[in-house]
Amino acid sequence: MNRIKAVQRALASRPNAVYLEIGVAQGVAFMRVAADEKIAVDPAFTMSPRTRRLADAKARVTHYFETTSDAFFAEQGALLERTGIDVALIDGLHTSEQALRDVENTLRHLRDDGVIVVHDCNPARASIATPADSYTDFRRRNHWWNVNWSGDVWKAVVHLCSFRPDLQVAVLDCDFGVGLVRRGVPESMLSFTAEQIDALSYEDLAADREHLLNLKPAAHLDEFVAGPPPQRQAG
Ligand SMILES: C[S@@+](CC[C@H](N)C(=O)[O-])C[C@H]1O[C@@H](n2cnc3c(N)ncnc32)[C@H](O)[C@@H]1O
Repeated sequence: MNRIKAVQRALASRPNAVYLEIGVAQGVAFMRVAADEKIAVDPAFTMSPRTRRLADAKARVTHYFETTSDAFFAEQGALLERTGIDVALIDGLHTSEQALRDVENTLRHLRDDGVIVVHDCNPARASIATPADSYTDFRRRNHWWNVNWSGDVWKAVVHLCSFRPDLQVAVLDCDFGVGLVRRGVPESMLSFTAEQIDALSYEDLAADREHLLNLKPAAHLDEFVAGPPPQRQAG
C-alpha cells in the first residue's frame, strides 16, 4: 500500500471523477492515476515530456498550474467551482501550516463523499520530521545522506483531529504515513489547543503515534473509503 494505491482505491467506481494533486514533482503519482479530469499543481514541475504524455493518456482532460497551492486556490476558484473535487493528493510543501491550509482549501471544493489523501503524515525518524521552511532549508539542516523529508505535516493531522468534529481522519501506517480525510463523524477526537500542538516535539509523536495520528494498518483503507454505514431512519 502507498499513496498512489490509496488514491486509486478512493477513485475507483466514481464516474467522471476529478482528481487534484498538490505537489507533483516528476509526476510519479500523477502519471499513474486515471480520472476523467486531472489537475496538477506545483511551482516547479520536473515532469519529462514522456511522463506528461503518460499522465495525459489517463484522463479526458488534464490541467497544469505551475504555481504554489495558495496561488492556485486563490486564482482558480471558477475552475474548481465547475469541476468540484472527488479525490485529492496533498503532497506539496511539507510544513504543518501549509498542509493544513491545503486540506482546508481542498475541503471547500470536495464533494460530500470525496476523500483527501495527505502524504508524509507519519515520519519514522526525527531527521525525516525536521521542521523546515523548504526542501532546501531541510538539506541545510541535515546530513547529506538524509534525503527524505516529511517535515511536521503530522501536526496538521493532530490539528484536524483536535478542531474538526465534522471530519473523519486516519493515517495508514505505510509509505511515510498516508493520511485520509473525509466528511463524517470522527471515531474520537483529540483535545489539544493550537499552542499545545505547536509545542509538540518529534519525541511526543514517537511516544504516542497511534493515538496522535489515529494510526491504522494499511488494510483500513477499504473501510475508510467505504464511509460510514447508512443511518437508520427513526420510526
Ligand atoms: C514530494 S514532491 C511531490 C511528489 C509527488 N506527489 C509524487 O507522489 O510523486 C513535493 C513537490 O511539492 C512541490 N511544492 C513545494 N512547495 C509547494 C507549494 N507551496 N505548493 C505546491 N507544491 C509545492 C515541490 O516543487 C515538489 O515538486
